Amino acid sequence: MRFPEYRARRLRRTETLRRMVREVQLHPEDFILPFFVRQGRELRNPIGSMPGCFQLSVDVLLSELKEPVERGIPAVLLFGIPEKKDPVGSEGYAKNGIIQQAVRAIKKAFPDLVVITDVCLCEYTDHGHCGIIQHGDVDNDQTLDLLAKMALSHATAGADIVAPSDMMDGRVGAIREALDEAGFDQIPILSYAAKYASAFYGPFRDAAESPPKFGDRRSYQMDPANSDEALREVAMDVEEGADMIMVKPALPYLDVIWRVRNAFDLPLAAYNVSGEFAMIKAAAQNGWLDGERCMMEALTSIKRAGADLIISYHALEAVRILQGDSPASRKT
Ligand code: PBG
Repeated sequence: MRFPEYRARRLRRTETLRRMVREVQLHPEDFILPFFVRQGRELRNPIGSMPGCFQLSVDVLLSELKEPVERGIPAVLLFGIPEKKDPVGSEGYAKNGIIQQAVRAIKKAFPDLVVITDVCLCEYTDHGHCGIIQHGDVDNDQTLDLLAKMALSHATAGADIVAPSDMMDGRVGAIREALDEAGFDQIPILSYAAKYASAFYGPFRDAAESPPKFGDRRSYQMDPANSDEALREVAMDVEEGADMIMVKPALPYLDVIWRVRNAFDLPLAAYNVSGEFAMIKAAAQNGWLDGERCMMEALTSIKRAGADLIISYHALEAVRILQGDSPASRKT
């Protein structure tokens, strides 16, 4: 590969040539679109720190799902905001909890859409932590029973995949056992296997109304400085029966995505989290960045790093662009 025999620019001359040698392409089926659901009717509450994202009531959610389904986005990830919170997050596994209602309604209206539910207590506990508090910290083993109960109640409502995001040790095994015992042996687990204690979750905590009331999540989520540990976390979840694994956040952890990709052959998801989304939106609103191009570049980088699936609030906008129908190109 020596100049002047080799000239790298030869294959960059035209868009058609560039398309022919492009190594990574985004497709609608790469995406999982997250939603925030709450009780009520005709609710579409804007989330200040996530422009274009809303807390939706189930009726509105159903109408919002038409476009992503038509465009071929295969899956959604649901987060619930309950009516009331308590120390053990009981709305999270209530038969008529908000997620359970939403799952039943979505599966009825869009039977082919894959409904993934986030399994974690933090949206449902009054203290905002991801499990039961004992002596000022989250008690791992007591929390496992509740997570298993929650996953089971999601599966009973009709969830296609359950996704534990709590980072308790042993939760994948506990959930797998509970699902299998109840006859849900065909329901896969997408484990948030390497989930970091990240400041990039800030906007999500506004959206889900779930910030911890005291302390932080550093005793259960991972230290941002570690990536060997990510491989151990993933190995543990795979051992316990995870069907798909996840790295979260995505952009500040592309190296972790790459390492996990090379070490494991399970389907790998990456979560392009709320703060990553908010940064691009904020800069674009200020006219500091070209929002659409930065979004596509960021999403492409996540796939290039090795993710098979990208969970992103940008998903619908990105798919519109892939299908040649971006707001900029639309004549209104
Ligand atoms: C629940 C959960 C969080 C996110 C997904 N599931 C928040 C947290 O752990 O504090 C963050 C998603 C995002 O920022 O987009 N545990």
